[in-house]
Amino acid sequence: MSRQRQLLMLLGLLAVAAVLAACGGPASTPEQASINTQADSSPAQPTEVVVYKSPSCGCCGEWAAHMEENGYTVRVKNVNDLTAIKRKFNVPAQMQSCHTAVIGDYVIEGHVPAAEVTRLLRERPTDVVGLAVPGMPAGSPGMDYGSASQPYDVYAFDAAGRAEVVASYGP
Ligand code: CU
Ligand code: CU
Repeated sequence: MSRQRQLLMLLGLLAVAAVLAACGGPASTPEQASINTQADSSPAQPTEVVVYKSPSCGCCGEWAAHMEENGYTVRVKNVNDLTAIKRKFNVPAQMQSCHTAVIGDYVIEGHVPAAEVTRLLRERPTDVVGLAVPGMPAGSPGMDYGSASQPYDVYAFDAAGRAEVVASYGP
């Protein structure tokens, strides 16, 4: 492995650690949260989402609430070792965020809007492992308390760790 590649991998791990640490902060109060509801974001049939998150993550719970608002049934699993979960479900290092969710055969990493999940389940691409919003962009579902918001992309990633932008949100 080249020196440059080692450095890149180290930076990736540090970024993930920062995200996980950021999510360990105090939970936001429910009354601060606003939920985005979009007309076309409900699944055609009841669909269970299993959300793996750390016990102390507040924004993870807010994302779970966003999914429930959009017609999904959510089961939360609090786990202490999210790194193992991300490895198990093939989430590429550069795609990682605070929580990892599983819906049927697909993996949803981070604060992905419900409308994108619904589109994924409707289109059912066979070469896609899942969708991700890396990091925790302000203004994404579950990160939409307060006035801050920033542009962010939704990625689809495959089993080889390749990712491409499938949607862009934000100001
Ligand atoms: Cu989060
Ligand atoms: Cu989360």
